[in-house]
Amino acid sequence: MSAGSASDADETRRLRLLVLHGPNLNLLGQREPDTYGHATLDALNLMLARKATELGVALDVHQSNIEGELVDWLQQAQEQADGVVLNAAAYTHTSIALRDAIAAISVPVVEVHLSNVHAREDFRRHSTIAPVCIGTVSGFGPNSYVLGLRALLDYLAEPR
Ligand code: DQA
Repeated sequence: MSAGSASDADETRRLRLLVLHGPNLNLLGQREPDTYGHATLDALNLMLARKATELGVALDVHQSNIEGELVDWLQQAQEQADGVVLNAAAYTHTSIALRDAIAAISVPVVEVHLSNVHAREDFRRHSTIAPVCIGTVSGFGPNSYVLGLRALLDYLAEPR
């Protein structure tokens, strides 16, 4: 087998994961640093890109303040990704559209939060998307995303 065909085979086996950041996460680093830390979104994304290389997966990352854009990316994930890590930010607590988009696709979605949403205001304890996600990671800062990626890989490795 030539080196070329070996790497082609590697490429076809590489899982494609998608990270979606919701509203106001573009302000990370300056936004409520006592709650969300000092790392910027760019720094977080760079850390995730490095982690993806380490884990041997292809990673795509998007952020939007617009609910409909998040819905569009979730719908596209059906064709373009094997799994999604989603920090829906405030839409977590309000969005039926995001919940329906997750329910509409067969790709597994992990809900993540930087902060521990259960240790904050009451309204943050309710998630409209949790029932249609495979699980939730909350409270570990940027590591919540890494744990989400690892959880997805373990989930995808299970025979079903
Ligand atoms: C958040 C928690 C949400 O309650 C909040 O609206 C956010 C960020 C988090 O990552 O901790 O914007 O999703």
